[in-house]
Amino acid sequence: MIERTLIIVKPDGVRRNLTEEIIRRYEDAGLKVVKRKTLKADANLLRQHYSAHVQKPFYKGLENFMSSGSVVAVVLEGDDAVARVRKITGATDPSKAEKGTVRGDMGIDSLEKADKEGRAIENLVHASGTIEEADKEIKLWFG
Ligand code: RTP
Ligand code: MG
Repeated sequence: MIERTLIIVKPDGVRRNLTEEIIRRYEDAGLKVVKRKTLKADANLLRQHYSAHVQKPFYKGLENFMSSGSVVAVVLEGDDAVARVRKITGATDPSKAEKGTVRGDMGIDSLEKADKEGRAIENLVHASGTIEEADKEIKLWFG
């Protein structure tokens, strides 16, 4: 089924000049960029985007990280896009993410380091987890 999903190149990816390379990974897998914008996310937007995590101990760190610089929000379209994009993105902890994934190949952080330093894991990119989340997130980021 043709689906749409959202990725967000996080501030670490933008700072490391990896934006184009990250987006290219998804395009190389046959996904099409249908919308794209660069912005600085504010606390209100992030609270809505990460509403499932607001009560978690790492939330404040996550908000600090996600608002620490520009992000690039991208809507991708293609067959089975939600699950395929999650697979290309890789596991949350870059030190555990499989080689061949964005986080596994380009990520330099780990849960262990992040926890020791009391901050969120820096893992280059967000990807919607389900079709329902994707619909909600696309509306939130692109109105
Ligand atoms: P995302 O939502 O950003 O695509 O990442 P995900 O599904 O792989 O992971 P999720 O559990 O939804 O967590 C959201 C983001 O919060 C940061 N995090 N830090 N220090 C920590 O323990 C911790 N746990 C999560 C990461 O940036 C993660 O991607
Ligand atoms: Mg998530």
